[in-house]
Amino acid sequence: MSIVLREIRFSYGEKKILDRISLTVREKEHIGILGGSGSGKSTLLKILAGLYPVKEGYCEVAGEHAPEGIRKRVAVVMQTPGLFPLSIRENITCGHSMTEEKVWEAVRAAQLEEWVRGLTDGLDSLVGERGGNISGGQAQRIAIARAIAKDAPVVLLDEPTSALDGETADALLRAMERLTEGKTVIHVTHREETIQNYDRILVLKGGKLFEKES
Ligand SMILES: Nc1ncnc2c1ncn2[C@@H]1O[C@H](COP(=O)(O)OP(=O)(O)OP(=O)(O)O)[C@@H](O)[C@H]1O
Ligand SMILES: [Mg+2]
Repeated sequence: MSIVLREIRFSYGEKKILDRISLTVREKEHIGILGGSGSGKSTLLKILAGLYPVKEGYCEVAGEHAPEGIRKRVAVVMQTPGLFPLSIRENITCGHSMTEEKVWEAVRAAQLEEWVRGLTDGLDSLVGERGGNISGGQAQRIAIARAIAKDAPVVLLDEPTSALDGETADALLRAMERLTEGKTVIHVTHREETIQNYDRILVLKGGKLFEKES
């Protein structure tokens, strides 16, 4: 099994968010998660990403239990991409040693090659607060390139295609296909069409996970 959750409970202070959630996901399975705003979808993803310690219940991701172990085995793309005020290259490698070829492979898979080749400083162009203007779609695809370069067995996506225009959304969808190919995927979204070919669609409601009725 790639992911095993058993009886996970989670609260922010007094506010109960997840109420005994159990879920098992096979290797390379693609799971979509729907649910109303505030239902706890991002919270669940953060637990799966090893960003919150689990105090009640059992959480295993890619064979790891400890949050620091889990964090090495998952690649995450969040709704707002959170780039570092550094170069495109550094945003992709995150300080890990990586061959030039591997960085370009990720750039290509994330549909960024043409854009990067057209920049005066190429991969060394600054982005984030210090960089020039880049579009939301480009920022999102840099975050996807980072996740592709990490080559982790588990990929977690939190609304990565929300609020983008048509052309950017197409490039983004192609980039996401490359990122999710052959991986275990948990994809939170409001847009059902982006997960319609997934193996299972689940709904988070009232702190519980349900199979979506089709
Ligand atoms: N760090 C936090 N501290 C306290 N409450 C929080 C925190 N993060 C989220 N919450 C609350 O917990 C609930 C679940 O939040 P979460 O972000 O997981 O929902 P969501 O399903 O991802 O919503 P959305 O669809 O709007 O992204 C919300 O009521 C939110 O206000
Ligand atoms: Mg959310």
